[in-house]
Amino acid sequence: MADQFFITRAVLTGTGAYLPEQILTNEDMAKRVDTSDEWIVERTGIKQRHFAGPHETTAFMGAQAGRQALEKAGLAPESLGAIIVATSTPDQMFPATAVRIQAALGANNAFGFDLSAACSGFVYGLSVADAMLRAGQVKNVLVIGSEVFSRLLNFEDRATCVLFGDGAGAVLLEAREVEKSGPGLLSTHLYADGALGDILYVDCGTDDNRTPGHLVMHGREVFRHAVNLLAGAVNDALAENNLTAAAIDLLVPHQANKRIIDGVGKKLGLPAERVVITVQKHANTSAASIPLALAEAVQDGRAVPGKLLLLEALGGGLTWGSALLRL
Ligand code: UT7
Repeated sequence: MADQFFITRAVLTGTGAYLPEQILTNEDMAKRVDTSDEWIVERTGIKQRHFAGPHETTAFMGAQAGRQALEKAGLAPESLGAIIVATSTPDQMFPATAVRIQAALGANNAFGFDLSAACSGFVYGLSVADAMLRAGQVKNVLVIGSEVFSRLLNFEDRATCVLFGDGAGAVLLEAREVEKSGPGLLSTHLYADGALGDILYVDCGTDDNRTPGHLVMHGREVFRHAVNLLAGAVNDALAENNLTAAAIDLLVPHQANKRIIDGVGKKLGLPAERVVITVQKHANTSAASIPLALAEAVQDGRAVPGKLLLLEALGGGLTWGSALLRL
């Protein structure tokens, strides 16, 4: 029977992006803290970042990116089944940013929830959406990464405040019956090590009376773990699919630091033109960085149907993960 060659997969049918209007260059940052363009570029590759204005909340930006993804896919908001928002900077503790976005989009038949996995949130979101779609729970899921890290930055700490920016990216995933060699999410791999929770965190919450609201990072420690853990996540993705790195058309990594991205690209033996890099323009936008990079690669024609994309991220938790996606 021909049926046996078909499989249900989560297929990407639309991407969207939103970046705040305000851009701050490294020179602008150097007016606020003791730093320099030279230091920031050499250590991170970052040249500028977008900072959200008062109206550019996580929900606002997520809705803009989400609406664009729906439009690209040609799906009416009322046909949407679910919204997952990966964010560590929700507008409020509750209601979830996802339901604010549901209302803004007029996605009246969708349910929604937020997912907190720091910079790995988008890969975690893809994984949850994939399981929901393959189980037949919904026909489509809007996965959004939206963050306003500028509101968590400690401008007394030059080692962190120059690294982050704001923005949102979104993808629409739809359940489709496809051939095994066809499009869709081929696999996702998720990992966590809570014993490393104190090397990257935000010092507010409901557990005690800590000083509210600042991101704290022991950058060198995070860096030390990043390349090896990410290489492991990537190798697991390739092994599960009986692929070698040569099969990857585009690496779409989390954009924290160009040195980490280059380290993973080098381990995979990928030439620079097969690695999507946006960190120079966006800085680290946490859960928004992969969908922003993906939307850019779609927009500029690098990510076209048939291409095999490898996504990977690592962030607070520690959490990390990878996803293999054929367009
Ligand atoms: O998305 C979540 C995952 N996060 C990451 O992947 C981030 C991982 N970590 C990193 O990317 C790097 O560790 C950083 C970019 C954060 C820092 O780079 P580094 O090479 O590890 O620098 P460092 O923290 O060891 O600092 C080196 C020097 C220090 O001076 P001394 O002690 O050597 O005199 C810092 O005080 O650089 C100094 N420094 C700065 N100088 C100018 C730290 N921040 C700055 C700054 N401008 N903004």
